[in-house]
Amino acid sequence: MAKATIRDVDVSGKRCFCRVDYNVPLKGTEITDDTRIRASLPTIQYLIDHDAKVILASHLGRPKGKVVEELRLNPVAKRLSELLGKQVLKLDDCVGQEVAAKVAAMKPKDVILLENVRFYPEEEKNDREFARKLASLGDIFVNDAFGTAHRAHASTAGIAEFIPGYAGFLMEKEISALSKLLENPDRPFTAVIGGAKVSDKLGILKNLIDRVDAILIGGGMANTFLLSQGYDVGTSLAEPDKVGEAREIVEKARRAGKTILLPEDVVVAEKPEVGVPVKVVSVDSIPSGMMALDIGPKTRKAFSEQISRSRTVFWNGPMGVFEVEPFRGGTLEIAGAMAAVRGFTVVGGGDSLSAVEMSGLSSKISHLSTGGGASLEFLEGRELPGVACLRDV
Ligand code: 3PG
Repeated sequence: MAKATIRDVDVSGKRCFCRVDYNVPLKGTEITDDTRIRASLPTIQYLIDHDAKVILASHLGRPKGKVVEELRLNPVAKRLSELLGKQVLKLDDCVGQEVAAKVAAMKPKDVILLENVRFYPEEEKNDREFARKLASLGDIFVNDAFGTAHRAHASTAGIAEFIPGYAGFLMEKEISALSKLLENPDRPFTAVIGGAKVSDKLGILKNLIDRVDAILIGGGMANTFLLSQGYDVGTSLAEPDKVGEAREIVEKARRAGKTILLPEDVVVAEKPEVGVPVKVVSVDSIPSGMMALDIGPKTRKAFSEQISRSRTVFWNGPMGVFEVEPFRGGTLEIAGAMAAVRGFTVVGGGDSLSAVEMSGLSSKISHLSTGGGASLEFLEGRELPGVACLRDV
């Protein structure tokens, strides 16, 4: 990576304002997946070991510029303290006199976690004055929030105007893994793209067509592609206004001689619930009152065969409503096929990661990206503001 990291600066005794992505899933006050907290540990531990003062900042959820009690970072501070084996001082604000006083009283190796930065509307507006206030808490800025690096916010980008920015180890690892996909991947290179909405994935599909050898399309978004090919998708989730763009993608891929696979068969039901009658149908006979909720067995086989022929595979987005038991088979089969690849495999996005986790095959994937939107934007070929603002080496 052409960006300076915390190895390139003497952090000893320095106040390190470290942006992390602790946007973790919560059920009440219980963290249901602490992957992102664990992923931040190498950077924090390094800073502690090198006698830095560590000031951590993150967002949680989308509180829209107001204090939302359920989105306070207290459960995160508790989990982080357990994982570090060290007391993390959680503050109830992220700027202001009280925060400044606590930071001024820090000793080397101390760790403070500030309150959710999105409680201030200025954060998402990348307000310069707010960025300056955050910057006043640190001597250097460390960005380890890869999952939020596609956002140009005050704590992810604006702050670097006031104090020098360095990448943390998670940021470095993510960028190096994803760059490998864009620059010279081993071939065949296959992208498996799923998830609910095609509108979220148009950018990446357009950018990847030129780079990959095959694109496999599943999940709710595949319905829009099926519509574009003239199929009737019953009551399936679809975006009719995106049919034109979906058709263009299929045509562009075919013109370029790429393999593009859409579902041949699907698992349908009246609604995505346990206990409802389900059946497998070919995509040309989806019943009018039913919706496609997973890819069918023929599609799973075709997708798995293409994946197993590949030397590089990127996967983002589940193949169906995998949270509901009868509709998770396709997604789990893709996870299994990915795990068996003898090559470089990358999974990005919260839902696909949960699916890999569910399959118990996480250790068989080369890189599990902590960033959903960020990994997509990176692979779209876009410059991420949270990376661009860091010092060059
Ligand atoms: C994520 O979970 O994708 C990141 O934390 C970014 O969150 P956002 O989409 O609310 O900006």
